[in-house]
Amino acid sequence: MSQNDQVQVPVRPFEADGIKELDNNLPSWWVGLFAFTTIFGALYLLYVHGLGGPKIADEFKNDMASMPQPGSAPNGSGDSKDLNAMLASQDSIASGKAAYTANCAPCHGPSGEGNIGPNLTDKFWLHGGSSDKIYLSIANGVVEKGMPAWGPVLGDNKVKELTAFISSIKGTNVAGKAPQGTEEP
Ligand code: HEC
Repeated sequence: MSQNDQVQVPVRPFEADGIKELDNNLPSWWVGLFAFTTIFGALYLLYVHGLGGPKIADEFKNDMASMPQPGSAPNGSGDSKDLNAMLASQDSIASGKAAYTANCAPCHGPSGEGNIGPNLTDKFWLHGGSSDKIYLSIANGVVEKGMPAWGPVLGDNKVKELTAFISSIKGTNVAGKAPQGTEEP
């Protein structure tokens, strides 16, 4: 192809190290996309701020409202029994102990004396030592501190059995990890 056959494209009026830049037209698909996003952005702005479309703050509020609330029963609560009755039931405490040995002993020690996790047999609690607070600690965990949330894993009934077991060893003061948290009667 000789020089004369080439389509004449304007050259931009500068040069760097002998390299010149052609001044091509932008590809039509690019121009189209640009026009589309600009128009879409303008309409969307109008929709959200002018025509009462959903605000981010409202969407956040709705999402939060549909999350399980603290204290609400985690998965599998359908057939679960009353926590207060289980606290006094030797059967529940025994099942809780088995679940404790299987899931909790590595972090809280075989007798609850503490290891990575706090001593569960002293009177000191980081998140409250009443049975309902213990239930919440187990069900929801303290994920950012390394305590997993067991509600979704074990189900409500097992969490209640574990609460019964922990409540039964609470205050037995097994020598182990130094107290953490605040003292409770
Ligand atoms: C991977 C380690 C780990 C495992 C496994 C674990 N925990 Fe924990 N647990 C922790 C840590 C760490 C904390 C302390 C959280 C904090 O600092 O707020 C904790 C806190 C707790 C608390 C609150 C204690 C307080 O002082 O308020 C309870 C109750 C508890 N765990 C029960 C259990 C039970 C029951 C299981 C088994 C189903 C279990 N944990 C399994 C690490 C673990």
